[in-house]
Amino acid sequence: MNFKGKIALVTGGGRGIGRAIAHSLALYGADVIVADINEQDIGIVKQELDKSEQTVKALHLDVSDQNSVDKAVAQSIEQFGRIDVLINNAGVIGGPNWEKRSKADDSDWNSTYDVNTHGIGRMIESVGPHMKSNDYGRIVNIASVAGRIGSVNSVPYAASKAAAISLTRSYAQLYAPDGITVNCIAPGLVWTKMWERIAVRRTTALTDDRGMSTRESFDAYVAQTTPLGRPQRPTDIANAVAFLASDLASGITGQTLNVDGGLTMD
Ligand SMILES: NC(=O)c1ccc[n+]([C@@H]2O[C@H](COP(=O)([O-])OP(=O)(O)OC[C@H]3O[C@@H](n4cnc5c(N)ncnc54)[C@H](O)[C@@H]3O)[C@@H](O)[C@H]2O)c1
Repeated sequence: MNFKGKIALVTGGGRGIGRAIAHSLALYGADVIVADINEQDIGIVKQELDKSEQTVKALHLDVSDQNSVDKAVAQSIEQFGRIDVLINNAGVIGGPNWEKRSKADDSDWNSTYDVNTHGIGRMIESVGPHMKSNDYGRIVNIASVAGRIGSVNSVPYAASKAAAISLTRSYAQLYAPDGITVNCIAPGLVWTKMWERIAVRRTTALTDDRGMSTRESFDAYVAQTTPLGRPQRPTDIANAVAFLASDLASGITGQTLNVDGGLTMD
């Protein structure tokens, strides 16, 4: 895969899966804008990537805030002239202290929708017109297996991710006449800060895994659910993102690819 000369913006690029995506795109030659709400983390990823040959920008971005989205996109266009590749990876599992609750509250419904669903919409609405005027664009959204099969323990999160799969199809239709592709990845189980929160909840507020450590809880869930018998690594997700964002995938749009060790098979 070759991203030489391409400009890629990765939301939630400060850690976890987003950090792996930023690394992967830089490895294949893209200049990368690492955008995240967490200023400290974007500084760290920029330092890591500054060792590569690529130009890297660390950018503060809150995808739940329209002003922040507009400002971040304007700053990126000002510095790089365009955005060729947009990866909508930023996500939350619930509101503040979600892990301490056994039932979702309003903050969980609102924050998951605002970041995981509307956050993607804000980014595409802001970046899409620039891609259109440049006659080029690749967009990849990050959903979840939860958006495919639901989740009894994370109903708002699963709903927000199902909506991300749906909006992928809508934007793919909207931008198809301009040759801009919009696709989606549904990751399985990846050990990141997000899953640490899930495991804290499973071992405390819920009864599922009382007495286990957070990592034991995660490993047990992987063993129960994932045919390949191992968690997904952030790089597993990043590799699939790079493919869908590359010109090798120029004939694919509106699709959601499960990268989940066989957890879902449809
Ligand atoms: N870890 C998993 O098992 C898993 C499974 C399926 C899908 N996902 C999805 O993968 C994506 C990355 O998750 P992760 O596991 O790396 O989690 P993570 O919590 O480690 O990373 C999420 C990143 O998004 C950023 N972020 C959160 N709110 C933001 C906002 N309003 N604006 C900008 N950035 C924001 C965070 O600061 C963080 O850097 C998410 O969309 C998540 O839902 C993860």
